Formats: sequence, structure tokens, C-alpha cells
Amino acid sequence: MSEVKLTIIDHEGASHQVHAETGEVLMHVLRDNIDLNVGICGGEISCGTCLVRLAPEWAERIDAAGGDEAEMLEALAAENNDRLGCQIILGESADGMRATLLNEE
Ligand code: FES
Repeated sequence: MSEVKLTIIDHEGASHQVHAETGEVLMHVLRDNIDLNVGICGGEISCGTCLVRLAPEWAERIDAAGGDEAEMLEALAAENNDRLGCQIILGESADGMRATLLNEE
């Protein structure tokens, strides 16, 4: 495992520098560092509270959403660079990622 640094913009627009380990799920990092109400379904793709908008250059670096995640993104009227944080496992390429929390519980 290695450390990655993320920039997270919270629901109020405040910016947070967060350290995480590769292999961690982004939703857990958001819940533990930013907002306890993120991820209330536990990653079952049913709540949408982990929805984040990634900066375009970071959205390109992770696998496209498929299956249940793609259906949930459609139901949430998500935009191209929006993803569910519970479906993103942080890799080394996530270092420097910038993500904005979208759905307040
Ligand atoms: S944690 Fe509920 S949809 Fe991601």
C-alpha cells in the first residue's frame, strides 16, 4: 500500500486535503474524513450519498461505470464525470485526485 493525497470539496464548498491508502474505497475515505452521512447504504448502490463529481482528468483514469452503478448514475441524473464513491477503489493513479461531494443526505 502507498499513500495518496486527495482534494475533497464538501457540501458547503470547503476544500479538504485528505490522505488515504491505496486499496481503500473512496466512499470510506469520504465518510471517515468529511461527512458521516456519506455511504449510508454501506456501498450497496442504493443511497446515492457517495455521489462525487471528479475533475475530468481523474475521471478518465478510472474504469467506466457499469452495471448497477451505471443504472444508479442514470437514476440520479448524474453527469459524465460523476461516480459513486463506493465503487472507486483508490489506486496509485488516484494521487492528487479532486472530487466534489454532490448529494447531501
Ligand atoms: S454508498 Fe450508497 S450508493 Fe454508494
